[in-house]
Amino acid sequence: MHKIFVLFFLTFAFSVSAQKRTNSQKVDSVLKLMTLEEKVGQLNQYNDNNLATGPVTIDNDKIGQIKSGQVGSLLNVLGSERTRSWQNVAMQSRLKIPLLFGQDVVHGYKTTFPIPLAEAASWDLDAIQLAARVAAVEASASGIHWTFAPMVDIARDPRWGRVMEGAGEDTYLGSLIAGARVKGFQGAHFGDTNAVMACVKHFAAYGAAVGARDYNSVDMSDRQLWEIYLPPFKAALDAGAASFMNSFNDINGVPATGNSYLQRTILKGKWGFKGFVVSDWGSINELVNHGFAKNDYEAAFSAITAGSDMDMESRSYKNNLEQLVKDKKVPVALIDDAVRRILLKKFELGLFDNPYKFSNVEREKLALNNASHTAAARSMAAKSIVLLKNENNLLPLSKQLKTIAFIGPLVKPLKQNKGFWDIEIPGVDSNFIVSQWEGLQNKVGATTNLLFAQGCEIEGDSKAGFAEAINIALQADVVILSIGERRDMSGEAKSKANITIPGVQEDLLKALLATGKPVVVLVNAGRPLVFNYTADNAPAILYTWWLGSEAGNAIADVLFGDYNPAAKLPMTFPVSVGQIPIYYNHFNTGRPAVSDTNHIYNSSYIDLSIHPKFPFGFGLSYTSFEYSDLKLSKHQFTKKETLEVSVTITNTGKYAGEEVVQLYLRDKVGSLVLPVKSLKDFKKVFLNVGESKKIKFLINNEKLSFYNAKLVWDSEPGDFDIMIGASSADIRLKDSFELIK
Ligand code: GLC
Repeated sequence: MHKIFVLFFLTFAFSVSAQKRTNSQKVDSVLKLMTLEEKVGQLNQYNDNNLATGPVTIDNDKIGQIKSGQVGSLLNVLGSERTRSWQNVAMQSRLKIPLLFGQDVVHGYKTTFPIPLAEAASWDLDAIQLAARVAAVEASASGIHWTFAPMVDIARDPRWGRVMEGAGEDTYLGSLIAGARVKGFQGAHFGDTNAVMACVKHFAAYGAAVGARDYNSVDMSDRQLWEIYLPPFKAALDAGAASFMNSFNDINGVPATGNSYLQRTILKGKWGFKGFVVSDWGSINELVNHGFAKNDYEAAFSAITAGSDMDMESRSYKNNLEQLVKDKKVPVALIDDAVRRILLKKFELGLFDNPYKFSNVEREKLALNNASHTAAARSMAAKSIVLLKNENNLLPLSKQLKTIAFIGPLVKPLKQNKGFWDIEIPGVDSNFIVSQWEGLQNKVGATTNLLFAQGCEIEGDSKAGFAEAINIALQADVVILSIGERRDMSGEAKSKANITIPGVQEDLLKALLATGKPVVVLVNAGRPLVFNYTADNAPAILYTWWLGSEAGNAIADVLFGDYNPAAKLPMTFPVSVGQIPIYYNHFNTGRPAVSDTNHIYNSSYIDLSIHPKFPFGFGLSYTSFEYSDLKLSKHQFTKKETLEVSVTITNTGKYAGEEVVQLYLRDKVGSLVLPVKSLKDFKKVFLNVGESKKIKFLINNEKLSFYNAKLVWDSEPGDFDIMIGASSADIRLKDSFELIK
């Protein structure tokens, strides 16, 4: 008997040891070999020297520090060859721990997609995921392991330049988009050679900065934090996001980088996040500026204690962590936890097996801006264009038009179309970008005469170019005017107090309208702008955001009806900056505004409407849709049951097209006040002319729940309104139901 046991034990022991060690076991085996200096090195991230996305620290010894194992990651390293050369340096270190290369691949690498806010206007999760997928294929072919995206900050204030980077004001839509982008970036299997690690940012509530001034303070109730700002982060985590980036802002008095409640209690605790957190650029040392740390030593202490694992560019960890351990202020276990989290990702990405896995020049050549990628970008761009106005069906234009005058400062530029957070690849010129002018040239036939005049600059008060613009307008059958802000007027550190269209561009529109010619206006921007003159006087308006490298072709596809626009605004567009913050899912108050004229003791302005210029969820089509036959499977149900909702949508116009059918709910009475409506579902449906389709929705307890005063996510019995609409302000069908115990 004894012999059999021994034989069995030996066989079992052998099989375990021979078994492939898990990545976690590999991490532990490397950790055991590391000196404290090498451990701290893994927490240290530097910028490369040829591109900066933050305040630069001159450091001429990066090579030496990498060789001595004092650097774990680099950001802004562009191209296979450059990443390979930096990785070569790391392979000369004692333990040969590979570098992690991070990059802001936010809306494309070389093939540039519409800015994320524009993509959000498509409400097309598959297209959004594909855009991230393409970006990952190109970035990973260029040596990038890790993208600092998706940015999932809910934003209700268009003065904040970074609204361009997210998915707008709505938590439900923003959460779905966050998940889609993570899946697109990280691909089918984490560590695939054609995928990159996602980095969900900026944790948290960065979009609620006071005055919408970048990096400014945030102060909000825990209820609002949990109800509005945290869900997209949780959705990204649930989609498998492998890393997070914290935010520059302080929140309720504690800077995010030093915020244990955010990073340890919520992210790594309640949510069980096993990846790692990178600080935003320099934000650890900035704890001193916040007045949250007396000096860099204390800043490093606060950040590592609060769960910031990697230090982007501040050098606080490199300069202080060893001393903090020696001073017994920081247990080495805390350092080990951060190192483990980072090394685990390097193992999972396959970098220990092959540090050069992503740096493949041949693959890079085949991947960048190839035909399938440009086709995806063109399709995404067309889906992002919002038709805001189309009086007398001026659009779509006929391809048989004799003469078109294409006017404005944004007609011919190439790079402007890329928006902020585009990537300038060294040695790659901008000729792959399709300008708006070229897009029209590609579209119209030889019989159409295209005339161009710039008319004016984006900024400045010179009207010297008006005469030429008017002159060509008088020769044309139709005028297209492309105006807006410069691409670098939105993005990081681009907060604006004045969000009207700059310069004399709307004066140019006025002059062109005076010719009596029909004018189609393209508004290019990275944010909702205020453009009341244009909105009130132009017969047709397309909001073209910044559409990326296929902008010209996509705009032409929409102008001439080769794509019927279906996009819906992901953010509210104010009449005036004075209305901000303005968003659709507001509370009713005790004295709700009743009209734009009656201001007697109610929550309105005496000098301005409280209604937006264009509401959340708004967007027109070249066709029209009828909503009918709203049916509920029951009008009373318990939280354990599911309510089936159906509605019929019919295409009653002359063009085939898509409609984003939106479902809003209102919980009439709660233990807390609740929004007058909240988006709880939507379906984007294609209908041929005359076609009808029955759309179905399911309402479960999840969709009826909210964070109550104890921050418990649950529903409460009571009456609910259900609203089906073409926008948050265009409710076509209504009904109600009761949730019973
Ligand atoms: C910037 C941004 C962040 C970006 C990082 C690296 O300051 O806030 O979103 O990922 O630095 O470029």
